[in-house]
Amino acid sequence: MDTQQFIPNSLQNKTTKTSFTWKTPSNIALVKYWGKTDPQIPKNASISFTLSNSHTITTIDFKSKNNSEANHNEINFELFFEGKKKEDFKPKIAKFFERIREYCPYLTTYTMVIHSENSFPHSSGIASSASGMSAIAMCLMSLEKSLSSVELTDEFIYKKASFLARLGSGSASRSIEGPLVVWGNHPAIKGSSDVFGIPFPYEVHEVFKNYHDAILLVDKGEKQVSSTVGHDLMYNHPFATQRFNQANENLATISEILQNGDINSFINLVESEALSLHAMMLTSNPYFILMKPNTLEIINAIWRFRNNTGSKVCFTLDAGANVHVLYPANESETVTQFIDNELSKFCQKNHYICDTVGLGAIKL
Ligand code: DP6
Repeated sequence: MDTQQFIPNSLQNKTTKTSFTWKTPSNIALVKYWGKTDPQIPKNASISFTLSNSHTITTIDFKSKNNSEANHNEINFELFFEGKKKEDFKPKIAKFFERIREYCPYLTTYTMVIHSENSFPHSSGIASSASGMSAIAMCLMSLEKSLSSVELTDEFIYKKASFLARLGSGSASRSIEGPLVVWGNHPAIKGSSDVFGIPFPYEVHEVFKNYHDAILLVDKGEKQVSSTVGHDLMYNHPFATQRFNQANENLATISEILQNGDINSFINLVESEALSLHAMMLTSNPYFILMKPNTLEIINAIWRFRNNTGSKVCFTLDAGANVHVLYPANESETVTQFIDNELSKFCQKNHYICDTVGLGAIKL
């Protein structure tokens, strides 16, 4: 893959002080990314719904360093999260900046002040790295656009933003555009790539437009095992090869399903993906369990409800105990009632977040 295209060669230092703000979404994978090689290359292709209400808003103030100021090889930034200085988030961002400096040489010519906030409550167990990294990537691309002496197309800006975001967190590559994004080279998906996400390139059936996702907050605590550690445990995992093949097969299948509107097959595939992801955790060495008793209560209640009513509601999981309840827009009223009556009692403080599929990053 040609990553040279992301090294800018026509930058002018014309901006001394500027600022950009972007709102970027979280996403929920339908076919999961679990297992990678350096540098953030996925072992299989994945696809996600881009979300709408669960997002990060990030502003970066850029000020060019004057000659007497700090070392011009250093990347200098301050980080504020929800108005407060956040030293403990800095190492992850610093590592991200180091990884992308080759592609963003302007990182060393400015000092940066980053202000970030999430729409979802802190430590809700919702992964904030996807929306967090994609928001930073979009701010950097706005700067790059303002510095570039050649016109950058929107297509290039989104592609490079996804490329950069991936180097911060793999799933962040899927948090730039919407409503469905594929990341990872796959023969069934035209234009797909291991180094950036692309919008699902085929016409999506009506039933999968405006899909809803209610995120049931079963456990708001810090995860015992981070995604990074989980990905690493796919090395020497006894079922790794089968899992990567399964995911790639599922991606080919879901591509057909999304086009032909076969919702029963969608349910089957999406739930199987969620449980396969957690099966990898159960069979890692060391093994671990991220689901909680209430995760299983919710799954069983969804299965009962579907059997009893013929509803098309289904679930998926990310690397945690929370349950994403997915349903078509026309079931919005009945499923919300079902959640209020039968599922919210399994959530911490009865708390869940209603979300819908969204279109991606927005400049504010
Ligand atoms: C289970 O993107 O958080 O949510 O690349 O190490 O930052 P890093 O991992 P991350 O992994 C996400 C894993 C997942 C599945 C998915 O989103 O595809």
